[in-house]
Amino acid sequence: EKAGYKHFMLKEINEQPRAIRDTTLGRVSLDTGKVFLDNLAITPEEFRTANQITIAACGTSWHAGLAGKFMIERLARLPVDVDYASEYRYRDPIADPHAIGLLITQSGETADTLAAQAELIAKGSKTLAICNVVGAAITRKAAGTITTNAGPEIGVASTKAFTAQLTALFVLALHLAQVRGTISDAESLHLVDELSKLPGKVEDVLRSVDDQCQQLAKIFHNANDFLFLGRGVHYPIALEGALKLKEISYIHAEGYPAGEMKHGPNALIDEALPVVTIATKDPSDPSSVLKYEKTLSNIQEVTARSGRVIAIAIEGDEEIKHLVEHTIQIPQAAELLLPVLEVVPLQLLAYHIAVRRGCDVDQPRNLAKSVTVE
Ligand code: M6R
Repeated sequence: EKAGYKHFMLKEINEQPRAIRDTTLGRVSLDTGKVFLDNLAITPEEFRTANQITIAACGTSWHAGLAGKFMIERLARLPVDVDYASEYRYRDPIADPHAIGLLITQSGETADTLAAQAELIAKGSKTLAICNVVGAAITRKAAGTITTNAGPEIGVASTKAFTAQLTALFVLALHLAQVRGTISDAESLHLVDELSKLPGKVEDVLRSVDDQCQQLAKIFHNANDFLFLGRGVHYPIALEGALKLKEISYIHAEGYPAGEMKHGPNALIDEALPVVTIATKDPSDPSSVLKYEKTLSNIQEVTARSGRVIAIAIEGDEEIKHLVEHTIQIPQAAELLLPVLEVVPLQLLAYHIAVRRGCDVDQPRNLAKSVTVE
């Protein structure tokens, strides 16, 4: 059942090209750039008049939600709040019929996420679900569900469900943008084309970085701490890289927005601290280029203090290679889709480190696959 892989997690990491393809399938037209999300029971008029999207989720699904905020705000110009589902209902949150609730959950059975949904519904908001399990509890109360077609995920550490969630969020952001008229036809066509190339690029990454991640695991598996840095839509991926590592290898890891380093975490840097920095850019996007330049300065701050930088960078970026000890290269993609490629080496790095440390990768201590108690 592990199809020849040593662990479910590794099998599921390798299933990501298919998971992404199946989550896109039938939802976008390559000819027109149009997105089709049927059966949502939220009318185009409601999408047009919505003034707020509230996302609630836990763990890895929360990280997908945070990336989704960047996608929806950027493309559909609609404000998005991202809450931990476990916090949402305890503060008398502001929600009303003009807000749309979006619950993101692999299992569809997470108690906190169900409670957040109940709170949103009680306050008059319609809810949408992004869920990987057909017929799960969350989908029964939702006005509509976008199913991530990742297939059953067995490993406790979420991998293919995460990249499928990012894909679903990108499709939803495009849909909202088209309904609300905030995107041109040309831009839609371009982004749909980029989306269609994504599974092939993930395949390339899987092929090209695995050996290198094994080598890095050999070098760094004894570290006591790890930092993961990123800016903008890449910041949630830094958080996800840190969560994967702590969850399965039991190494303490933190994710930080790179620009926050000088406000405290720089004090942690020494020659024993590996700092994984996402330093990718989409040259066609000026704000992405600007972020990249700032991230290079953050990298220099780390190396000046003898920190050991592992950079995730775009293929052919020679500049960065001179600055850091290790560079993991990924293919070019549109800014909002780069996260899907960036997370793959982080998953593999966590996996190989955990294997080297002799950890139970598929069943980490103290954790359950779905958390059905609050
Ligand atoms: O099934 P859900 O997506 O609602 O689960 C949420 C979290 O419990 C889950 O993502 C957890 O953080 C994973 N073990 C992370 O790998």
